[in-house]
Amino acid sequence: MFERRKFIKKSAVWGGYALGALALGFPVFSFVGFRKISEKTIVFPPDAQNAIANFKEGVYLMKSKEGFRALSAKCPHLGCTVNFHAVSETFKCPCHGSTFDASGEWISGPARKNLQSLPVKKTPGGGIETVIKI
Ligand code: FES
Repeated sequence: MFERRKFIKKSAVWGGYALGALALGFPVFSFVGFRKISEKTIVFPPDAQNAIANFKEGVYLMKSKEGFRALSAKCPHLGCTVNFHAVSETFKCPCHGSTFDASGEWISGPARKNLQSLPVKKTPGGGIETVIKI
């Protein structure tokens, strides 16, 4: 009788530990380790290729003498969306003020990294396609 009571008491305690570990561990592991990274394809149609900068779904398509370049609009500091200023031809982050030139290279501010450059390729219909990881 005494052994049975002891067994039930210990089972309840260890069960509580297991539930506690699950309650603490699930949010930590779901945040840290099990994020699914997927890719998104963005196509800029031919009529969107005349401007110096075009924005679509978190990506800037930049036109230069060398051709087209796609840049992620996500600031490398803490992830805010940068804005392109046509007059100064720079990107400015509205959150903490980082600045990047038109090719995405860091100029000033806390980011200290360039904007992410994305691959570009022509589509059969004359558009420009890029792929961004989200
Ligand atoms: S998020 Fe852009 S400078 Fe901080």
